[in-house]
Amino acid sequence: MNLDVSKVLIPEAEIKAMVSDMAAKINKDYEGEELLVVGVLTGSFVFLADLVRELKMPVTVDFIQVSSYSGTTSTGVLSVKKDLSSNIAGRNVLIVEDIIDTGYTLSCLKEMLLTRNPKTLKICSAFDKKERRTCEMNADYEGIVIPNEFIVGYGLDYDGCYRNLKDVCIAKLLG
Ligand code: IMP
Ligand code: MG
Repeated sequence: MNLDVSKVLIPEAEIKAMVSDMAAKINKDYEGEELLVVGVLTGSFVFLADLVRELKMPVTVDFIQVSSYSGTTSTGVLSVKKDLSSNIAGRNVLIVEDIIDTGYTLSCLKEMLLTRNPKTLKICSAFDKKERRTCEMNADYEGIVIPNEFIVGYGLDYDGCYRNLKDVCIAKLLG
């Protein structure tokens, strides 16, 4: 593959510190509650695995796989490739995403899951390309804000590859 991924944008240690800080906030907010953690496949699996191991409340984990595309209307079109196995009605749900880019995927997903009547629904994301946002969408627990670069590693892929890198690296196509 003609891709250079040698430039580290966020080293492993910085990611670890972000995960600990975020987990501390989540632990505080949900003290005495139970939490259903919903990973958005596939990119969130590494972040989710690190995050849940820092959580102290009773936790269950489920996954959902979606793809979104903007149509010509303002209504979001979300195709569900793999739905949740659990019923979320009346439960505290925390959606775990790898990165927020335009915000489109999460705004559609949030809207869809809210129709299932969770007790609470919040979002956390490991990384955030804030300057690329086209939808009004902010995570309740924000990870690391990154510039407008295509990144790989820590669960994020290019064409299915590089999810296993420990650092987050900038992917540059070689001409
Ligand atoms: P959004 O709907 O535009 O917010 O898209 C978010 C999704 O696009 C993420 O869940 C990722 O799967 C993917 N994505 C966005 N930016 C990147 C990137 O820099 N590297 C890898 N995947 C990305
Ligand atoms: Mg994704």
